[in-house]
Amino acid sequence: MKTGGDDFTTFEHVGWERVADKYDSVWSSLTRQFIPYLISAAEVSPGMSVLDVACGPGYVSAAVKRLGAVPTGIDFSEKMIAIAKTMFPDISFLQGDAQDLPFENVCFDRVLVNFGLLHVSHPENVCAETCRVLKPGGRFGFSVWAGPDKNPGAKIVHDAIEAHGDLDVGLPEGPPHYLYGESEGCRKVLEQSGFDGSSMSYETRTVEWHLPTASYFFEAERDAGVRTAGLLARHSAEKLDSIRVAIENEMQRYATGNEFVLPMAAHVVVVGR
Ligand SMILES: C[S@@+](CC[C@H](N)C(=O)[O-])C[C@H]1O[C@@H](n2cnc3c(N)ncnc32)[C@H](O)[C@@H]1O
Repeated sequence: MKTGGDDFTTFEHVGWERVADKYDSVWSSLTRQFIPYLISAAEVSPGMSVLDVACGPGYVSAAVKRLGAVPTGIDFSEKMIAIAKTMFPDISFLQGDAQDLPFENVCFDRVLVNFGLLHVSHPENVCAETCRVLKPGGRFGFSVWAGPDKNPGAKIVHDAIEAHGDLDVGLPEGPPHYLYGESEGCRKVLEQSGFDGSSMSYETRTVEWHLPTASYFFEAERDAGVRTAGLLARHSAEKLDSIRVAIENEMQRYATGNEFVLPMAAHVVVVGR
C-alpha cells in the first residue's frame, strides 16, 4: 500500500509485514494487559462507534466489541489485517495509514491507539487525524511505553545497547522512542491537534510480563520487533552477543520460580475533543 512515502514509514511498514505472524505469540501477552486501562479511561460504553488505530491483530477491537460497542480496526499492514480478520471474523478491519485516515469528519465516538503512536513518523498527524474523525464530545485514548527511568523493562534493553552497542546506527529518523513521557508536553501536542487539553487524563500503569527464559526479551526484540530489531541488526555479531548477555544478566533479578516476571510500564492518556 501507499504509506506516505517517507523512509521511516517505509521502514516500519516493511518491518511489520515481516513480523506480523509472530506478534500474537510474542508480544500480545504484554500489550493486551493495557487494554482494560485504555478502555476504562476512555469510558467506552455500549453502542459507541470506536476506531482502533494501528490495530495489529485486533485486540482492542475485540475488547470493545465484548463491551457492546461497535469497533472498526485499521492498520497499514496487510498481514496484520488478514490476521485480525481471521481471529475476529465478525469485526470490520481495513488497511490504511494512521496518518491519513480514510474516514469522513466526525464519525466516531472514540478513537483508541494501543502502542501505535511511536511507530508513525509524525505522531502529531495521527492526533490531528483523530481529532478530525471524532464527533464533538468524543474522546481519544492511547498508550505509549514509559521511558527507562520509569520502566524496568525498557531500562534493561536501553542500558544494554548503550553499554555494549550504539543507539545511533543510522536508522530512518522517527519520533522519540519514548514519546509523550511527560504530561505537560503531551497536553501541548494534543491541544495543537485540536483537543481540549484541560480534559486530559494521564496515568502511568505498570503490568507484569511473564517470560519463560532470561533470553526471551532479547530474542523477542531481535526476531519479532521492528525498530529495536532494525537497531540490533546493524550491530556486529560480537556486539550483539554482548547486548544479549547484558540483557540476560539483568533479567536474573526478575527470576521467580520457573519464570521471569518483568515490570513493564506505559502511559495511558485520554483527551476529549
Ligand atoms: C505494537 S503494534 C500494536 C498492535 C495492537 N494495537 C496491540 O494492542 O497490540 C503496532 C501496530 O502499528 C501498526 N502501524 C505502524 N505504523 C502504522 C501506520 N502509519 N498506520 C497504521 N498502522 C501502523 C503496525 O502494523 C502494528 O500492527
